Amino acid sequence: QYALGSGAPRIMGFLLPPSSQKTVGLRSALEIGVTARFRSTSSISSYSELARERSKTVTSFYNQSAIDASAEKPSVRLTPSTLLYAGKSPDGSHILSSAKYLHKELPVRIAHRIKGFRSLPFIIGCNPTILQVVSSFCCAFSLLLSIKDQDTEARYSKLVQQLLDDHKDVVTMLAEGFRECRKHIQNEALIRNFLDTTLTSRLGIRMLATHHLSLHEENPEYVGIICRRLSPKKIIEKWVDFARRLCEHQYGNSPQVRINGHVAARFPFIPLPLDYILPELLKNAMRATMESHLDTPYNIPDVVVTIANNDTDFVIRIADRGGGIPHSIMDKVMDYHFSTAEQSTQDPRMSNLFNTMTNSGPQSGPMHGFGFGLPTSRAYAEYLGGSLALQSMQGIGTDVYLRLRHIDGKGESFRV
Ligand SMILES: Nc1ncnc2c1ncn2[C@@H]1O[C@H](COP(=O)(O)OP(=O)(O)OP(=O)(O)O)[C@@H](O)[C@H]1O
Ligand SMILES: [Mg+2]
Repeated sequence: QYALGSGAPRIMGFLLPPSSQKTVGLRSALEIGVTARFRSTSSISSYSELARERSKTVTSFYNQSAIDASAEKPSVRLTPSTLLYAGKSPDGSHILSSAKYLHKELPVRIAHRIKGFRSLPFIIGCNPTILQVVSSFCCAFSLLLSIKDQDTEARYSKLVQQLLDDHKDVVTMLAEGFRECRKHIQNEALIRNFLDTTLTSRLGIRMLATHHLSLHEENPEYVGIICRRLSPKKIIEKWVDFARRLCEHQYGNSPQVRINGHVAARFPFIPLPLDYILPELLKNAMRATMESHLDTPYNIPDVVVTIANNDTDFVIRIADRGGGIPHSIMDKVMDYHFSTAEQSTQDPRMSNLFNTMTNSGPQSGPMHGFGFGLPTSRAYAEYLGGSLALQSMQGIGTDVYLRLRHIDGKGESFRV
């Protein structure tokens, strides 16, 4: 266990033997119990006291002045090489320095996000689902500030893990919230920018938080979230299995997937963003393939994934023969909330399987049909210094090119 602060008095607090810490905690719990009992027996004065206390709780929950102050501070973004080289030390001090960095950095990043929500058009900011997301960010901000320098690293990590769990549905909630107030959106570009920034910044926050937690694990293949020798083929295969299972559940069959190109390539990379992007692209390719072959569901063309690796970056191309993207919607497929999923559920040959798909799978289940797969994947790829491009051969199929920069420090890299 480590304390977060480095000053002597702080460490002194941390150095208290566990038994005396427990006593302190117990004593204050008893005091609270006594005060509470005392309060409940007094009458009118206790009402005003209670009211005062309630309003205090609300203001301290929202912590507006602290949020404003943090939102003014710049965020300190790290390169993957910094994460990689600061990620190991024999005495474990890297875990403490990582916690110290996060302890400063997370409230700043969360405050930036809250500020972003507050600058949305009023009518959108009032949507209950979006409000719920804002209050979960405010709550995270308060909880993170409640951790003091003398707290232990173990306590801090526990909170970080809890926040990661609490926030796992944020993307779905944003998709839901913005869909609910679509009709009020006048400035599409503003919403697109907001979603690009919010989603990519959330990805960055989750990468840093997961990195810190993973530093505790003893896995020689990894330094935090960085896999030292990531095999693109292996990770593609993992998500092919996932997408095929969903597809079989939905359509009764799924296309075979062939992987070619640099199948033996291995290099240091962060699997986490690929875990978001690959299932989305593979689901799209499989869905298009199945829906363009509804009359011959047992004779369907393969999806072909090609890996190309070079010194600067690597490219994953996913090529399907699912009929392509019609000219009329080509400009829209990268828009948030653009989806043709609704039309296909109305196709009588599809029975009602899309609704079943909605509830299956950890990644895509509830996201299906929001029209978030492509725009989110592109935003993530660009955040990581890469790109996502589509080439459609209308009438035949679609090629999607996911290009990502290497993180080994040879070329210029992105920052998390
Ligand atoms: N490989 C493809 N072939 C043909 N059409 C595609 C392909 N990929 C995407 N599209 C079209 O682009 C639309 C938007 O794709 P996107 O992945 O953003 O949303 P979605 O798949 O409809 O829903 P979600 O991904 O949020 O579950 C799809 O509804 C589909 O019409
Ligand atoms: Mg999709």
